[in-house]
Amino acid sequence: MTAVLEPDAAQRGILQAMLHGSKAFADLEGLDEHVRTETNEFAVVIGPSVPSEAAAELAQWARVHRPDLGVILLRHDVDSAALSLALRSGMREVVAARDLAGITTAVQRARSVANAIGQTLMDEAQAAAESARAQAEADAAAAAAAAQAKAEAPRGRIITVFSTKGGVGKSLVATNLGVSLAASGRSVCLVDLDVNSGDVAIMLQLTPHRTINDLVGFNGVIDAEGISSILTRHSDNLSVVAAPVRIDSPDQASQDDVAKLLEALKRMVDFVVVDTSGTFDDLALCALDRSDGIVLVGTLDIPSLKALKLATSTLEVLNFPKSTWRFVLNRADGKVGLTVEEFEKTLGLKADASLVSSREVLAAVNRGEALVTAYPNHPNSKALVSFARSTADSIGGETPAAEQNPSSRKSSGSRLRLRRA
Ligand SMILES: Nc1ncnc2c1ncn2[C@@H]1O[C@H](COP(=O)(O)OP(=O)(O)OP(=O)(O)O)[C@@H](O)[C@H]1O
Ligand SMILES: [Mg+2]
Repeated sequence: MTAVLEPDAAQRGILQAMLHGSKAFADLEGLDEHVRTETNEFAVVIGPSVPSEAAAELAQWARVHRPDLGVILLRHDVDSAALSLALRSGMREVVAARDLAGITTAVQRARSVANAIGQTLMDEAQAAAESARAQAEADAAAAAAAAQAKAEAPRGRIITVFSTKGGVGKSLVATNLGVSLAASGRSVCLVDLDVNSGDVAIMLQLTPHRTINDLVGFNGVIDAEGISSILTRHSDNLSVVAAPVRIDSPDQASQDDVAKLLEALKRMVDFVVVDTSGTFDDLALCALDRSDGIVLVGTLDIPSLKALKLATSTLEVLNFPKSTWRFVLNRADGKVGLTVEEFEKTLGLKADASLVSSREVLAAVNRGEALVTAYPNHPNSKALVSFARSTADSIGGETPAAEQNPSSRKSSGSRLRLRRA
C-alpha cells in the first residue's frame, strides 16, 4: 500500500487516482498516525507542495522506525537542493512531480525493496528460531550426557590402611573398619594386599577358594564378573579379596592387575578397604595412589613413632594430600614413658581414634570374628565404629576427592614421577 501526503487538493487527487489503492493525506498528522499503525505500508509519496523541512522530518523518522518504508519525494524541480535534502534525510528517490511514469516506477521499486526487507527479516527470524532450537537441543543433550556420566561415575571410595611397621594393628583396623561400614548399610570390599602374610581372611574366619593371585588368569581383562568370581563373601554387604594362601604361588598379581581391580571395585561397592603389608611396596603405592582416604596406624612406642614419622614424611614428599589422612593410635594405654600428647606432637597428627591393649582383641582374632561384632560394647569396638562413621562422613561425598581438587590430581602425576626416579 502507498500513502500520499499532499496539502494541495488538486495535486492530491491526481496522485491518488494514479496510485490505485493509495491513501492520501493533506497534513502530516493524518499521515503520521497512518504509517505508525499501518505496518503493511511500503511507500510514502510526498507531494510537491509539502515543505522541505516537513518532508525531511518524515523521512528521518521512517529511516529509524520503519526502514522498510520507501519515502519518495516529488518536486516541481529536481535540483541539487532537492537531491541533497533527500540524501541527508534518507529518502529513497526524488522524482519530478510531472513525471507520472517515474512516480509509478519509484513506487514499484519501493514495493520490491519492502518485500526483500520483509523476506530478509523473516529469514533472520527463522534462522534465530532455528539456532535457538539447536542450542536448546545441544543444552539438553549436554545435560543428559552429564547426568549419565554422573550416574555411571564410580561411586565407591577407597580407604587404604597403612603404616611402615608390622604388627601395629593395620589388619585389626582394616577388618573392623570394613565390618563396621558394612553393618552401617554400605557395600564393602576388603582387599588384602599383604600378599606374603595377609590375614584378613583368617581374622574373619573365611576360607577363600580364590585369591588376589587369580587375577593373573584374567590376562588383564579385570571386570565386575571376573572380580565377583574371586570374592570370598563374609556377609551380604561385605566381601573379601583374600591374600594368597600360598606364598610360593607361581602367578602373582601385578601392580597393573591390582590397579584394575581397585578401579573396577569402585564401580561395584560403596567402600573398598585395603589392608597393606607395612612397606611402601608397589601394591601399597598402587592403592595409595587411588585412595580417597589413608588410615595410618601406629602403637604408642618409639619404634612405631619413628616408623610413622618416616611414613608421613614420605607420603608428604609423594604429594598425598594430608587432608585425606586419618590416624589410629593403637595400644594408646601403654605405660611406656611416652604420652599420647608427646606422640601426637612429635608426629604432627592428632589421633582420630585411640584403641587400648586388650585381651578381647586377641580373643576376637582367635575366634575369627571382628572385634566390633564379637564385643560390641568394648571401648575399642565403640572407638572403631565411631571411627568408621567419621571416616565415611569425611570421604563419602558425591564427588571423588581427585575431581574436587584439581591440585591433588596434579600431585598424582608428580607421585608417579617421584616413584620412577
Ligand atoms: N589393641 C590391641 N590389643 C591387643 N592385641 C592387639 C591389639 N592390636 C593388635 N593386637 C594384636 O596384635 C597382632 C597384630 O595386629 P595386626 O595383625 O592387626 O597388625 P598388622 O599391623 O596388620 O600386622 P602385620 O604387619 O603383621 O600385618 C594381632 O595378633 C592382634 O590381635
Ligand atoms: Mg596385617
